[in-house]
Amino acid sequence: MQFNPDLYRSERDVESKFIVSYLLPKLGYLPNSWYQEVAFGNIRLDFLAFAIQVLPFSFDGSNPLSLVIEAKSPKSKLDSHIPQLKKYLTSLRVDYGILTNGKELRVYERTGKNIQATLQLKEQDVYDRIEEVKLLVGRSSLKSKELRTKVEDKNQNRSFQDMKVIAVYHNKGGVGKTTVSVNLAAALRNKGYKVLLIDLDSQANSTFATGLVKFQFEEDDNLRDNNVFHVLETGDFNFIPDVARQSDYFNDPEFSIIPSHISLIEGQYKLNQVKASQTRLIKKLKREEKKYDFVIIDTPPSRDIYAQVAIISANYLIIPSDLKPFANQGLVSVQSFIKEIDEFRDSLGRSPIKLMGILPSKISTNAKFLANTFPRQQESIMNHYCLPLMDTIIYERAALSHCLNQTLLVGDLEVPDPKSIFEYANSNAAAAQSASEFEALAEEVLKKVS
Ligand SMILES: Nc1ncnc2c1ncn2[C@@H]1O[C@H](COP(=O)(O)OP(=O)(O)OP(=O)(O)O)[C@@H](O)[C@H]1O
Ligand SMILES: [Mg+2]
Repeated sequence: MQFNPDLYRSERDVESKFIVSYLLPKLGYLPNSWYQEVAFGNIRLDFLAFAIQVLPFSFDGSNPLSLVIEAKSPKSKLDSHIPQLKKYLTSLRVDYGILTNGKELRVYERTGKNIQATLQLKEQDVYDRIEEVKLLVGRSSLKSKELRTKVEDKNQNRSFQDMKVIAVYHNKGGVGKTTVSVNLAAALRNKGYKVLLIDLDSQANSTFATGLVKFQFEEDDNLRDNNVFHVLETGDFNFIPDVARQSDYFNDPEFSIIPSHISLIEGQYKLNQVKASQTRLIKKLKREEKKYDFVIIDTPPSRDIYAQVAIISANYLIIPSDLKPFANQGLVSVQSFIKEIDEFRDSLGRSPIKLMGILPSKISTNAKFLANTFPRQQESIMNHYCLPLMDTIIYERAALSHCLNQTLLVGDLEVPDPKSIFEYANSNAAAAQSASEFEALAEEVLKKVS
């Protein structure tokens, strides 16, 4: 097929006569590796091409989205369409984009929240220099880049000698355990550590908050049949790689999660009958100690078997608390619970769990409160309860609950699309303060484990 820009009179011509007939085949994209008119919520892409493809196509992160091609009318100036392409590439996290009106072609590359033109060709050059376009975004180039990035990503990970298991626990509900767990997991992953998050709460809030509940109807899902209960239920099967999933769109880069499910409540009886249930997680985590640097465990606001397993399995404990009277009264019971479990740990030859401290969480930003009440609350934790306080403070900020409640329109369906505070901060300036608090928390955790 010859390249003949004079034939292109409309956007449709650019799509059919230039992109479909000339450009995609030239770049090595066979008909089964690209899609036209693809909708993601309110985003409509003209073309989406894949270097590595998993069929059937599904919007669950198993297909790395490789190249977006946007067609414009031959009369249209490309400059005015850059912001739109930038929005598409950054919100869908696609690394490469082509913008073309048939007479001019530009290749863009995404770096984080920005895009940059790496090649701009006009008129005859679009034809004469098509091999350069192919080198940048052709199917075989992108395929090897994607494979290479995966290997580099692995190599870049920082590692410890030992895997560190951190439980996030308080018996008082609503103090921020789940919010802290999912965002601390993201913060450590963003620093290059390999992270596994375990949801040990039958409310399954971490599972929901990291976007693992994708379907409206439970029968479309396999969360009931493959979750943390199954890890605890047997010593012989259901090892961590069999049950862990990826956090997909929750955070970039992603981390692993073992989900929970409401049916954990029914499972308690069975687990309580068998003493070995309490130590299976330790054994299964041991098999993965080279694979993860950090395991973060979100726990229920109770003393049930799942809370016990968390405290038995962890090396460290973070107790988030809003420092209000109810949460403080609960601390006495938390202390006695830890003491009992430490006795059991001793019988297993495990040292007592190390308390990183009480993490002030959901702390009001009101100036009067911070000047008068907050210092007294902090003092009471140290003097009255004789517990250490963490240095980091997680303030009460709307962005922190909003980020976990994001949704996405897919066709007519509104599906959950929660984001870590770091992802949310990419598009929402109000989230920056919370993001930096979680960054500080990750730093403090790193300091305390080394
Ligand atoms: N720092 C914060 N700022 C604003 N809202 C917060 C903050 N932390 C948590 N929240 C909100 O408070 C509520 C309870 O938080 P979260 O679910 O994290 O608590 P929890 O301790 O895990 O609760 P549960 O004991 O029920 O598991 C949620 O609606 C959450 O969005
Ligand atoms: Mg919770």
